[in-house]
Amino acid sequence: MPARNHKQWIATPPLKSDEWVDSRIYTDPDIFEEELEKIFKKTWIPLCHESELSEPFDFRTFTIAREPIIVTRAPDNKVRAFLNVCPHRGNMIERRPSGSFLEGEPSGTPKNMTCMFHAWQFDMKGNCVHISREKEGYQDRIRKEDQGLRRLRCEVQFGGFVWVCLDDNMSQSVEDWAAGCFDCIREAIETEPLEVFHYHKAIINCNYKLWHDTNSEFYHDYMHYHNRITGFNDEYFARKNVVFDNGHVNVNTFEVKYDEYEGFESRAELSFPTFPPNQWYMIDMFPGMNFNLRGSALRADTVTPLAADKVMIEFRGLGLKSDTPEERMIRVNHHNSIWGPFGRNLHEDLIGVTGQGSAMQTGSDVRRILHGRREDNLIHDEVGMRHFYKEWGKWMNRMPSDPMKKYMAAAE
Ligand code: FES
Ligand SMILES: [Fe+2]
Repeated sequence: MPARNHKQWIATPPLKSDEWVDSRIYTDPDIFEEELEKIFKKTWIPLCHESELSEPFDFRTFTIAREPIIVTRAPDNKVRAFLNVCPHRGNMIERRPSGSFLEGEPSGTPKNMTCMFHAWQFDMKGNCVHISREKEGYQDRIRKEDQGLRRLRCEVQFGGFVWVCLDDNMSQSVEDWAAGCFDCIREAIETEPLEVFHYHKAIINCNYKLWHDTNSEFYHDYMHYHNRITGFNDEYFARKNVVFDNGHVNVNTFEVKYDEYEGFESRAELSFPTFPPNQWYMIDMFPGMNFNLRGSALRADTVTPLAADKVMIEFRGLGLKSDTPEERMIRVNHHNSIWGPFGRNLHEDLIGVTGQGSAMQTGSDVRRILHGRREDNLIHDEVGMRHFYKEWGKWMNRMPSDPMKKYMAAAE
């Protein structure tokens, strides 16, 4: 068929209904708002790594679905999460991205969170410990003992990542939610404590799901010169995608030939504990998180969707806490040479997804986005994306291939 007219262009593809999606799921602002409510406020979201709040009184702030969140480490060493919202008049309590409450601030008390507006204070467990002129203003009608922060479910799991869920009624623990998708690297990341050595964030003009797609399909290795040179061999093409409950996927391992790329070296020496040399596992978690262990360096991406066409991605690189300075330098080099701000992989992935973001904006006519490659679940099979969108359809009760219709599983 020659180039198509409009009717032909938007016609239903000759594929099953789970083998393509309608681009409105990437561009429609109403669908985006619904995703925040139905998915991001309901599921476990990894926010950071515990090494980023290593001392008592350390904190970091975040948002999930626009709700401000603060994560603290208390003197009992436990990491806890709260809404970063003052119970008095709804002010945001802490505005810095990270820091420590140990020393206090000019308008704050050491060891407490102080709301700058009217100076109410809270301890690291979220208890309200001071209300300014409490008796004079409230007599006994409001007591600080009853004015604690809104505590959030928070677990430290899978190598020290801090997970938070906004929904008190979430029936699953983080372990249940992961449904086994961390088993492939669990020993490697839990034998020794890990530490974040690289952090950067980027705001990208594309829908968050397009970023997740690029992490879960490997067909686009045609874009990555480095991966083609170090990977395209029989073992690479035998690499399997494995699906888990709750929309998660593993991309199974193979041996990467790093030394076949000029300037690169084998990563065998600094492999994570128990991890065979130069292996590479990837975990893609619904609704958009990625854990990527390339032998000697672990990368974790977390997404904060900002709008239908905008996502903030935080990238972390992790090594072993026990690294000597020399080992750390090599590990950082391994990490940055592939994933750092100007690294090859990330650089190309961003060009890919921003190209999609430019071509699919709010108001764009409908496009059909194909997820229909089937190759026995091997590396270029698009089963990972199909699995993700099936989960998305269930949480949203919308058909990914026609989001104006209620979700219905595709015929097997
Ligand atoms: S709003 Fe926080 S003390 Fe008043
Ligand atoms: Fe990529």
